[in-house]
Amino acid sequence: MSIQSQTAYSIERANRYIAENKGSVNPLYRNHYHASPPVGWMNDPNGFVQFQGAYHLFYQFHPYDAKWGPMHWGHMKSTDLIHWEDLPVALAPDQAYDRSGCFSGSAIERDGKLYLLYTGVTEANEEGVHHQVQCLAVSEDGLHFEKVQQNPVIPVAALPADASQIDFRDPKVFEHEGMYYTVVASKAGDETGQILLYQSADLVEWEFASVFLKGNKQQGVMWECPDFFRLDGKDCLIFSPMQWPQDGDDYQNLNASVLAVGEVDWATKQFHPESYQELDHGLDYYAPQSLEDDKGRRICIGWMQMWGRNFPTDELGHGWTGSMTIPRELKWEDGKLKQYPIGIVANSDNQGEISPVLTMADAKETIPGIAGDCGLLTLKVDTSELEKLSIHLRENENERTVVSFDKAKNELSIDRSASGIELKGEEAHPPVSRKVALSGKSDYLELAIYLDSSSVEVFEKNGEAVMTTNVYPTETATGISFECSGKAVFEEATFTPFI
Ligand code: FRU
Repeated sequence: MSIQSQTAYSIERANRYIAENKGSVNPLYRNHYHASPPVGWMNDPNGFVQFQGAYHLFYQFHPYDAKWGPMHWGHMKSTDLIHWEDLPVALAPDQAYDRSGCFSGSAIERDGKLYLLYTGVTEANEEGVHHQVQCLAVSEDGLHFEKVQQNPVIPVAALPADASQIDFRDPKVFEHEGMYYTVVASKAGDETGQILLYQSADLVEWEFASVFLKGNKQQGVMWECPDFFRLDGKDCLIFSPMQWPQDGDDYQNLNASVLAVGEVDWATKQFHPESYQELDHGLDYYAPQSLEDDKGRRICIGWMQMWGRNFPTDELGHGWTGSMTIPRELKWEDGKLKQYPIGIVANSDNQGEISPVLTMADAKETIPGIAGDCGLLTLKVDTSELEKLSIHLRENENERTVVSFDKAKNELSIDRSASGIELKGEEAHPPVSRKVALSGKSDYLELAIYLDSSSVEVFEKNGEAVMTTNVYPTETATGISFECSGKAVFEEATFTPFI
């Protein structure tokens, strides 16, 4: 990404541009139940928070182009986490300390006000260098935000000696025992990623607390978008490392999203990781951020895209790029992370005609009533005599996206090599397929697959394995068919359309 210094950005200008241009966006690949920008470019979820009874989602936003550019904060809200309502732009890069971009950050409520803690990318100094600093904005109504006088509230002077002043971003604020803390991504002097911790009593005055976690040379070059929370008795740190090296089937995308589970020693304020795992095994998932809602749910949402790729909606001149995943509830159960999708719920009225059960043996078939390109497909298949089952999604005469289960390898895979528009990436291999080994053997394969205009999200066994991938069929592609070797006994199959 290239940093551009501009002077004329303001919220009013952005809102006017959006109002005038959102009607000309091409809807072909626009998702129906995934958060997307009204026009222009979207990346990371920011400031995901519940405020005055609604879920608010802010995001990295360049309204004026379907490409990344001077970053604003877009804003939308929802009461059900499925239908999103666009709100006025929350932040524009209009101050010396953020003129080159209002980068990612987070939100927190204090005394009935909503605070946004975000990264300002400064104007270039005499040497042409843009620093990254942390800034605060506040709102009474959750709609209009004012940047505080004290900005930047965490200047580069508050960095430890060997940390980069250029890679210092994405504060995620949280409360712990009456104190505010923020984790912030930083690059250490030895070109590794690290997470810094700062503390504050009032969100305005911050002091450096610790190097919360430092990476090593095998763990990527910079860690972006940290998030810290406690989940079912475990301390969890999520971060998005750039170029974390591939490890077998894991970490195959240019950048990854990682969950480290461990323990914080609050005396030293350091995080001691016990394990690392990739959060999503698909091709398009990055920079997730979470909140805890008033029902006690830890809900996580990610950017459903990957850096270093071509973006078809931009290339085709459709006027927009970028979408979020559906929100997922995170739980730590039976020693494992589980991700439960929050979205359309399976509706048994739409059950395909499979009663009592439908058996396929060495065949390629469709199931009556099971078809569509926007909705939820659920399957429960007895696999005791199965070798391989391939589910063809978004299928037409020439194109399909294939989700396969290999019983002997106990492996799930997704393949978009024949999905439609070709997607290229900066990875050493073309970003067209991924696999994941399933944990635990079972004679049942249970899948929930969320299809939208340009996305496929596969949840296995209530989210023990998740694969998120974008697809761009070139013609109408509503077919779903099943191909198996051995015997697949479908005990359940439903397709619940969203529209
Ligand atoms: C992650 C990221 C963040 C940064 C933002 C800029 O995708 O690179 O580190 O704040 O995007 O848009």
